[in-house]
Amino acid sequence: MKTLNISVIPGDGIGKEVVPETLRVLDTLAEVHGGITFHYEKHPWSCEYYLEHGVMMPDDGIARLQQTDAIYLGAVGNPKLVPDHLSLWGLLIKIRRECEQVINIRPAQYIEGVKTPLAEPNHFDFMVVRENSEGEYSDAGGRIHSGEDEIAIQNAVFTKKATERTIRYAFELAKKRKGRVTSATKSNGIIHSMPFWDEVFQEVGTSYPEVQTESNHIDALAAFLVSKPKHFDVIVASNLFGDILTDVGAAIMGSIGIAPAANINLNGKFPSMFEPVHGSAPDIIGQGIANPIGQLWTAKMMLDHLGYEELGSLLMNSIKETIGEGIKTKDLGGSASTIEVIDSIIKKLRFSAT
Ligand code: NAI
Ligand code: MG
Repeated sequence: MKTLNISVIPGDGIGKEVVPETLRVLDTLAEVHGGITFHYEKHPWSCEYYLEHGVMMPDDGIARLQQTDAIYLGAVGNPKLVPDHLSLWGLLIKIRRECEQVINIRPAQYIEGVKTPLAEPNHFDFMVVRENSEGEYSDAGGRIHSGEDEIAIQNAVFTKKATERTIRYAFELAKKRKGRVTSATKSNGIIHSMPFWDEVFQEVGTSYPEVQTESNHIDALAAFLVSKPKHFDVIVASNLFGDILTDVGAAIMGSIGIAPAANINLNGKFPSMFEPVHGSAPDIIGQGIANPIGQLWTAKMMLDHLGYEELGSLLMNSIKETIGEGIKTKDLGGSASTIEVIDSIIKKLRFSAT
């Protein structure tokens, strides 16, 4: 029997509602499948924890996370208790940095039964691979002088190492999918970093003759995600471009409540972290109506990442069947509670095993 050790951080707000419910689904999967069990190391790190201890996580927090196979996170943030920049940098960003989660991946997919803002969603299914450690989000730069003479300089940092590993990850992913990588560029306007990005993209591409490649300028690409989303398979982008594209991806899916994300460690030294795209949703706390699908979908990504793709597919099918039958929370136009959605998914998993 293989035991997977998972660090569980429900965090704040609806994170505390959806995370425990989704663990019931994971336990059902393990039971139905046989051969594996999940061991959870649950941590109360959150804004309430901060009020009590003055920190978002204890000193040995990172070391404890690093001993497990994966980190499963709900949502962080309760601006009424703790300013967002303290809670975010004290937990989420700290984990991403110290566990060297250098890539962020987010799928965007049309799910039958979810109303999307697109007139013709055409069953799109793409994955954005975003560089997660440098690029435009660097603190190199500064401000000098004041008043009329004030100057602000913001430097973007693109290393060969980070650019190459991000692009390579995208190609490897495309090999397992539909075999197309689109690179987000802007080499017509950003004349140093983006031609460099394009060169590395070309160079890496030569080792993947079976993968189709194309480069689109970021402005056009953002528009294409609305006008022809079905065209795309894997999109690879720098930190800022990926940030923007993934928000477009979540928007065309129909609800932020279903969108998942994963922060991937590539060197194998530390665990990766799986979390939904949404935050703690203070406006619906305690009503029992939080959509658990974003959280569950990231659990599917965790299973895939840990090598249990068959379980991941089983889970995804049960999610799709449940939505397809109209068992949906309010954000998707339904009237089901969090627990009703979870119970339906569990029922389908048990049924699929018989
Ligand atoms: P949010 O994602 O928490 O909520 C935005 C809107 O979407 C709200 O109307 C909310 O009710 C709805 N919503 C979100 N998830 C839902 C779900 N699963 N089911 C149904 N409806 C859902 O973003 P907001 O309100 O800007 O931020 C709230 C707090 O969460 C802040 O403290 C913010 O910093 C934090 N946050 C944390 C994130 C993280 O932990 N990765 C990401 C985004 C925000
Ligand atoms: Mg964003």
